[in-house]
Amino acid sequence: MSNTEQTLSIIKPDAVERDLQDEIKEEFKKNGFSIVKEKKIHINKSEAEQFYKVHQTKPFYNDLCAYLSSGPIVVMALEKDNAILDNRQLMGATNPKEANEGTLRKKYGISIDKNSVHGSDSVENAKIEIDFFFKD
Ligand code: CMP
Repeated sequence: MSNTEQTLSIIKPDAVERDLQDEIKEEFKKNGFSIVKEKKIHINKSEAEQFYKVHQTKPFYNDLCAYLSSGPIVVMALEKDNAILDNRQLMGATNPKEANEGTLRKKYGISIDKNSVHGSDSVENAKIEIDFFFKD
């Protein structure tokens, strides 16, 4: 049975800065994802704080929000069967040093903060995160 899902993907400032967005978008397409919504934006710190609210009690919250708002990002809604889990597998572990060979964070990530891509972690959060960037 098919289980078509959408997930929110962000190409983070470190990857956009290195002009990797087209290469990363090709990786998504090669792995069966359709990019159904897409925009390049530069959010401010309070928008980043709102987006990453689930992490507000974490010690890295302030740096994380400063980082996400430090430069342009590409936000996308990606669609495929089991998109949420498949995207997390394609991205690899949060820390690029722990990510498996062939994953996006292994290939492109610089550090746990500059880990090049974000992806939703659940069906519920995917909906919230896609609405955050694409609700008009
Ligand atoms: P992301 O998937 O975008 O979700 C939250 C981000 O916080 C994560 O990727 C990391 O880039 C960043 N982060 C920084 N420090 C940590 C940490 N110790 N554990 C988890 N995430 C961290």
